[in-house]
Amino acid sequence: MGGAGRGQDFGAKRIDAHPILGDLPASPHVTFSFDGSPIQGCEGEPIAASLLAAGIRILRTMPRFGGARGGFCMIGRCTDCMVVVDGVPNVRACVTPVAADISVRSQRGLGDEDERQLGERRA
Ligand code: FES
Repeated sequence: MGGAGRGQDFGAKRIDAHPILGDLPASPHVTFSFDGSPIQGCEGEPIAASLLAAGIRILRTMPRFGGARGGFCMIGRCTDCMVVVDGVPNVRACVTPVAADISVRSQRGLGDEDERQLGERRA
């Protein structure tokens, strides 16, 4: 996908002071990769949160017509945020914590055959 969704951050910003929830607790920053590029996130936050804060909007494409998806429900129900994490496809970025040095890739369709087999072996 080669960086799809980058370059237009649409004012992306991590909310660090919320009027109801208060200040964002301090947590160490971690670096991971997305489609081969380094991304910084806060340890333990969802992968989708790190990617959104970095201005990345497209996480996957749909199997039939290739439509771009970037997350919808953000609570683990809709599958619009599926990414490939360390070679395993169909990982929901909105409910999977980010960690140092993980490799995250945008997912095309259902992921390739090798990725699906790896995911089935780990399940
Ligand atoms: S955005 Fe719906 S499952 Fe992640």
